[in-house]
Amino acid sequence: MKAGLITGASSGIGKELARIHASKGNNVVLVARREEELIDLAAELTEKYKIEAVVLACDLTQPDATEKLFTQTQSLGIFVNYLFNNAGFGGHGLFVDRNIHDDQRMIDLNVRALTDLMHLYLTEMKSNNEGRILNTASTAGFIPGPLQATYFATKAYVVSLTKSTSYELRKSNITVTALCPGPVKTEFEVVAGMGGSNMFAKGASAYSTAKKGYDAMMKGKRTIISEMGFAVLIRVFGPFIPDSLLMRVVEKMQTI
Ligand SMILES: NC(=O)c1ccc[n+]([C@@H]2O[C@H](COP(=O)([O-])OP(=O)(O)OC[C@H]3O[C@@H](n4cnc5c(N)ncnc54)[C@H](OP(=O)(O)O)[C@@H]3O)[C@@H](O)[C@H]2O)c1
Repeated sequence: MKAGLITGASSGIGKELARIHASKGNNVVLVARREEELIDLAAELTEKYKIEAVVLACDLTQPDATEKLFTQTQSLGIFVNYLFNNAGFGGHGLFVDRNIHDDQRMIDLNVRALTDLMHLYLTEMKSNNEGRILNTASTAGFIPGPLQATYFATKAYVVSLTKSTSYELRKSNITVTALCPGPVKTEFEVVAGMGGSNMFAKGASAYSTAKKGYDAMMKGKRTIISEMGFAVLIRVFGPFIPDSLLMRVVEKMQTI
């Protein structure tokens, strides 16, 4: 069977992406560490939309996790025609003070697992000449990010990889899109050690962010900045703002 695989489906933007995809009559493969949340979501989606929902709980930071996941979907006879590479987390603090292992795990998830899954599932998409990939990046991918330096750098990687692969695949039926949200009200802020920050209190909803990303993916867009204000800031004014000023503003926004 065909199905959309969503990483980070246990919460926030990923959970909403799974709901939107299932609401259109598509089967889903739900991936994250918290199996109970995935089982509850699978029950909700199968009941509401009469689709198939498969739960494959795993920790994507583990070295063999992505290949294991690929083998599991293959042995279940699933063709992943939609890949939602969404799982990710941030981490607050001066780079020099941060724990090296926390940053390694962040890179393992935000960069390595995302790249692995693109490699693994693109091969199948290519041979079927069918597929759509939505990578959840961030507005952080367009600017440097003092006080979340590693996180911003991981998202710059996602934006760059998405643009290049989408260009390389332009003559095929496969599209690659980067969803680039500003602050969104999810579990992200607490996981990143930024709980209670004003920036997230005024953030967008997980649903509206997921919907904008989903629609952009369906249109085959390369990147989508999901909030108009951030889009204008980054695309119109961004190129004219000196880095030192930009980093002062970002540092202020990241201060808790
Ligand atoms: N919220 C924002 O302000 C914001 C802004 C821009 C971009 N983003 C990006 O949006 C994406 C989704 O984040 P969110 O805001 O929806 O945050 P969230 O509510 O914290 O969701 C993160 C998801 O990633 C999963 N995850 C975390 N570590 C994992 C691991 N080791 N293995 C497998 N799954 C893992 C989590 O599930 P488990 O804990 O169950 O594993 C959860 O489902 C991330 O890539 C984030 O960088 C968020």
